[in-house]
Amino acid sequence: MTFLKKTHKLFLQILFNLFSLLGLSDVLIKAIQNSGLYMSYIKTTKASGIKPFSTRECLYKYLMKSIQPVSFNYMEFGVYQGKSIRFFIEHNHHPHNKYFGFDTFYGIPTDWGNRKAGSYSNSGNLPEINDHRLNFLVGTFQEQLPAFLITNKKILANQINIIHLDADVYSSTLFVLIHLIPYLKTGDYILFDEFSFLLDHEFKAFNDFCMASEIKIDLIASTIDNVQTLFEVKQNSYYKP
Ligand SMILES: C[S@@+](CC[C@H](N)C(=O)[O-])C[C@H]1O[C@@H](n2cnc3c(N)ncnc32)[C@H](O)[C@@H]1O
Repeated sequence: MTFLKKTHKLFLQILFNLFSLLGLSDVLIKAIQNSGLYMSYIKTTKASGIKPFSTRECLYKYLMKSIQPVSFNYMEFGVYQGKSIRFFIEHNHHPHNKYFGFDTFYGIPTDWGNRKAGSYSNSGNLPEINDHRLNFLVGTFQEQLPAFLITNKKILANQINIIHLDADVYSSTLFVLIHLIPYLKTGDYILFDEFSFLLDHEFKAFNDFCMASEIKIDLIASTIDNVQTLFEVKQNSYYKP
């Protein structure tokens, strides 16, 4: 995957540089935009003027800095060996932060590109992260999330929520997004880890979620290749506090 990601990144970079060199028309750029792959890149760089980040860790830091000094709830869907959740825990020591990691720890439930179902399995083992602010919800999102949302409704209403979607596959991502509709409020964030990498997974789930929820949500930052993208909820008429 690393090789594919690097190639993908390089390809996007070369294409974008070519556009700039050739001074290609907005019409052509729009056509490419509409293919989906460039949508968020163009939107981020041209419309909002936000500088894209070179790594996902830079994007994470930017997000946490935007929220400071208040505390937040961080919900990660797809923890695997804990690399990303650990980063958020280690880089923000606010005592009121709450971290929730959802995973079976047995890998993705269906194929994802050339990755077979079961890839990213941690053989059922939870990452060793010792922080009292962290709770793991072990099981499928489908088993864990509905009850979690009812039990933690107040917590979700009282702090900014960061929803980090890193389950890769369409079904898992869509399930989470649809179940979150009544809980997402203005100022919450949704972060994707594989947004533009395979467009029929996280990207498609996001588009379907937007259609179903009619939510107003803005892309506020991304990595240079749009693989990791950050959105902020602006208005959600289905929010039920
Ligand atoms: C790519 S890994 C996560 C990587 C991790 N966030 C990191 O940065 O290192 C994807 C994870 O999603 C989990 N996953 C995918 N769909 C799931 C579902 N429906 N329920 C529970 N876990 C799921 C898999 O078990 C796997 O651990």
